[in-house]
Amino acid sequence: MSILNIGSLNLDIVYRVSCLPLAGETVKALNKSIYLGGKGLNQSVAIAMAGGDVKHFGVISSDDEWIISKLLKCGVDCNFISKTQQADTGQAIIFVAENGDNSIVLLSGANHFLKESELEAALDEFSNSDWLLTQNETNAAEYGIELARNRGLSIAYSAAPFDLQKLLPILPKIDLLSVNEIEYEQLIAAIGDIHCLPKNQALLITKGASGAEYIKDDARINVDAYAANAVDTTGAGDTFLGYFLAMLDVGKEIEDCMKFASIAAGLQVMKQGASNSIPSIEQVKIHFEG
Ligand code: RIB
Repeated sequence: MSILNIGSLNLDIVYRVSCLPLAGETVKALNKSIYLGGKGLNQSVAIAMAGGDVKHFGVISSDDEWIISKLLKCGVDCNFISKTQQADTGQAIIFVAENGDNSIVLLSGANHFLKESELEAALDEFSNSDWLLTQNETNAAEYGIELARNRGLSIAYSAAPFDLQKLLPILPKIDLLSVNEIEYEQLIAAIGDIHCLPKNQALLITKGASGAEYIKDDARINVDAYAANAVDTTGAGDTFLGYFLAMLDVGKEIEDCMKFASIAAGLQVMKQGASNSIPSIEQVKIHFEG
């Protein structure tokens, strides 16, 4: 099985600060670093590092060809990544505090230049045994979900950055929905009750230091967070979802998918940066106890 990820590709410009600035406050940066990020890119890297077969569909600036070389080295298939001269590669300005918390400002850039015709052509290479994964950082999520659903692919949606008005119309088309705790509460407040979620829809709730929960119909599976000294939590949720999907794709039981994902996310937050901190499956297996 393959996973087609219609996803954002960003340059993360990270400023390390003592405390996140409040409105109207100026704080000094301790240092600045640039990493590869974007929820889409992080998730593709996590799937590839877990040993999964992932093909990334996205757009970068023609000036940033080097991003493709980096992704290829991680094992991500980049045949569906195109280049544009009309926009810069997406950017995320990220403040990371000493306790690992972050604030992110996004500039969509080339992530809003995905072409529907190219997406249709890409989807011709996938079948109903494959997954579509997408998030809310490109212009093509809704269209991609519609097309993929018509072709029988299973749909995984990471509802981030969270936009309830965008999520509600596509909710019935999603097989696996990934949200964090706050997003989960907003979703339940909008639909009234967890039982109002579409039947057979799986829900993955990441809860940071409190672990994660998988809910499907009456089944609930919880996993603890992997004990970690968090240096930078940017991309932890992406790592969790990418690992979870890759493990699901190779037929692991849900409980094991959750354990693998939790360890991967726990190791990822111990280093600074998003995609560059995602551990390999060999590193994760060392910490996995069946
Ligand atoms: O989820 C983390 C990601 O969000 C960062 O890598 C940043 O690019 C933003 O998209």
